[in-house]
Amino acid sequence: MALDEQMVIPQHVALILDGNGRWAKKRGLPRTMGHKEGCVTVEKTVEIAARMGIRYLTVYGFSTENWKRSADEVGALMQLFRFYMVRLLKIASANNVRVKMIGDRARFDRDIIEGINRLESETKDNTGLTFVIAVNYGGRDEIRRAAKRLAQDCTAGKVDADQIDEATFASYLDTADMPDPDLLIRTSGELRLSNYLLWQLAYTEIVVTDCLWPDFNKEELEKAIVQYNRRERRFGGVKG
Ligand code: IPE
Ligand code: IPE
Ligand code: MG
Repeated sequence: MALDEQMVIPQHVALILDGNGRWAKKRGLPRTMGHKEGCVTVEKTVEIAARMGIRYLTVYGFSTENWKRSADEVGALMQLFRFYMVRLLKIASANNVRVKMIGDRARFDRDIIEGINRLESETKDNTGLTFVIAVNYGGRDEIRRAAKRLAQDCTAGKVDADQIDEATFASYLDTADMPDPDLLIRTSGELRLSNYLLWQLAYTEIVVTDCLWPDFNKEELEKAIVQYNRRERRFGGVKG
């Protein structure tokens, strides 16, 4: 199924890239091989999304809950993260991509934090796709951190509590200045949000595919965009 010319390309696509472990298990490989292959798919997806004209692509790389996995798996994910940050810098520069990380980076090792900061600062003037990676990210944790900073600003007299509206609150989230996602794609069939972008997904269209993340490709992305185009978006209104 091809994207026809009339299709609306969503401005912001959010992705829950799930199924690396299952992909590896199916092949009798260790889970970490699934994560490695998943990183290759992330790179390809960034290039495809940039070429399609998607403005924001936000992927869930590591949740606040993923620390509960075995020390071996967490360690392997951190190593992969280190390795792919370097590759990502090249890919971002070649594709005019701006990279941004959301989540609480303070929990990572010093060198990873420096890598993240470097990736953001060296790509900040790129004008194509904004590629957002959620690492040590949890929707509840993001809301908690936003509430904490907002409360501090109220105490300091910078913000009047009576004047706090949704826009004020959103400006304290990690996604300040970004539009909310139009389309959420979750791979591997699970029908849950897993603590992803809880505030931002309020009116996002959701597409779940059985495809395991390492198998995700241009055709899968196009299929999701076709489904998105068939939806009638309401935002609480009624059919006209
Ligand atoms: C997603 O794949 C990647 C991360 C959460 C880091 P999983 O590792 O969750 O793979 P499954 O769900 O076990 O197949
Ligand atoms: C969601 O996948 C988190 C990421 C993709 C980083 P999980 O595999 O961790 O989610 P659950 O445990 O199935 O809800
Ligand atoms: Mg999973």
